[in-house]
Amino acid sequence: MAVQNDMTADFLRSAYGGESMAHMRYLIWGEMAGKEGFANVKRLFEAIAYSEWAHANNHFRELGERKGGADVSAGAVFGAGKTVDNLQGAIDGELHEVNQMYPVFLEAARFQNEKGAERAFSYALEAEKIHAKLFKEAQDQVRQGRDMDLGAVHICPVCGYTGVGEAPDVCPICSANKDKFRIFA
Ligand SMILES: [Fe+2]
Ligand SMILES: [Fe+2]
Repeated sequence: MAVQNDMTADFLRSAYGGESMAHMRYLIWGEMAGKEGFANVKRLFEAIAYSEWAHANNHFRELGERKGGADVSAGAVFGAGKTVDNLQGAIDGELHEVNQMYPVFLEAARFQNEKGAERAFSYALEAEKIHAKLFKEAQDQVRQGRDMDLGAVHICPVCGYTGVGEAPDVCPICSANKDKFRIFA
């Protein structure tokens, strides 16, 4: 059932806006990373952009037939700089979502007994933790002037789970079968 309460609906719209912007921003930063010679950082940005799409998709669907605009408070950053700086923007955005935005949105959804929104927010929260870590690993390498080591990245289209290397049989966040995963290799 789609969202019932206005407060949780506002948070879904905000989260949809934030995820949509992150999706696009990562594609832009990925292209820049490729031009700087960091092919794996480009691939990481592209894979994670797809994960953010999965989150936006969930939030959008939970809104059902509600109309209206979105106020975005996702700590979203602008700035087309060097890849090392763009990665800092990515880390800051992910940490804002992990430490502030999603925990608050999740509590609100629980308080309002909004099961669908609770699931959408908790999927995103768990995936963003992984994103922050992967972007930090990328930045550590780029600081040394080299591309990151990066195996195949697999993304769960249901929850945005992001893994590197051998994929688990089922998604550790949402239990989807691994044959659903999209691979960025
Ligand atoms: Fe993320
Ligand atoms: Fe999943």
